[in-house]
Amino acid sequence: MAMRVFVAGGTGAVGSYVIPALVREGHEVTALARTPEKASALTAQGATAASVSLFDRAALTAAFTGHDAVVNVASALPPVARFMSAKAWRNNDRVRTEGSAAVVDAARAAGVGRVIQESVSMLYRDQGASWIDEDAPIDRFPMTRGNHAAEANTHEFSEAGGTGIVLRFGWFYGPGAAHSELLFAQARHRIGVVLGPPDSYVSSIHVADAAAAVAAALRAPEGTFNIVDDEPLTKRGYADALVRAAGKTPWVRGPGRAALVFGDRLTSLTRSLRVGNARFRTTTGWAPHYPSAREGWIATAARPYSL
Ligand SMILES: NC(=O)c1ccc[n+]([C@@H]2O[C@H](COP(=O)([O-])OP(=O)(O)OC[C@H]3O[C@@H](n4cnc5c(N)ncnc54)[C@H](OP(=O)(O)O)[C@@H]3O)[C@@H](O)[C@H]2O)c1
Repeated sequence: MAMRVFVAGGTGAVGSYVIPALVREGHEVTALARTPEKASALTAQGATAASVSLFDRAALTAAFTGHDAVVNVASALPPVARFMSAKAWRNNDRVRTEGSAAVVDAARAAGVGRVIQESVSMLYRDQGASWIDEDAPIDRFPMTRGNHAAEANTHEFSEAGGTGIVLRFGWFYGPGAAHSELLFAQARHRIGVVLGPPDSYVSSIHVADAAAAVAAALRAPEGTFNIVDDEPLTKRGYADALVRAAGKTPWVRGPGRAALVFGDRLTSLTRSLRVGNARFRTTTGWAPHYPSAREGWIATAARPYSL
């Protein structure tokens, strides 16, 4: 059924795939734009641009009025070079904490029935080689503060009678995802970046599959869902897949276990996360086009940017 959907963060790494995915499915899409250039990009993708602050409840309420669902994929992760600075995460914390609270409050005030909120699967505790579903224990460390707040706000929305949906995404990769493009640049030099023990797992999701999951979440019941591909790879397997997709054979791999010295600051990337997607697949019928990063990286290397 076609819906009216408002998207916050629609101009970002995942958002720029979310807009066309929703438009393709026949939804009428409005998206938050912070600059005239971004507004033009949204219009070119078939959305209506709305210039409104993520922190202004009254303005958001007015912008949300008449929509059936709000999707919040706004985030402000620091660049990789500043990843380990606590200060660099403040903006992201604000977007996830204050921003998600304002989104939920405004959605309620505007009578929107459904909120879909981005979160991350890096919240789970390290479970070694065991599979992780949505009931597995989660963890609290400084970088996850914003995601915990966003999840709590979304659950409150459900408790107040709405349909609140939390999507815990795996490690994004694909064209336009800055962090993964950086890893790909290393791969071209035959360097496989391995963060943590080489036999620990990384759960990933191609940005196009993440966007398709957001569209599928329009028909999901309230709850929390893992959005990851079918086959998490070991860190060593992921690094090798990347280097091979770049047409090379791996030469150097690292830093491996040495990355553990950064403790909490890098734990979202060094821990072992073998996350399963069964709940979302069964509930919505969504399935990733790329079953693992092995296939996804080959496609990415062959066609660097396609929406
Ligand atoms: N699960 C994961 O692996 C994961 C999760 C998130 C991010 N990442 C990585 O981190 C990189 C950066 O991601 P990102 O999502 O932070 O940046 P991004 O790709 O630029 O997207 C962030 C989105 O949120 C919007 N936004 C940011 N601050 C806002 C604010 N104050 N008010 C309203 N909207 C705001 C941005 O708007 P503007 O376009 O106007 O800036 C943009 O639409 C990505 O390339 C991705 O690889 C990975």
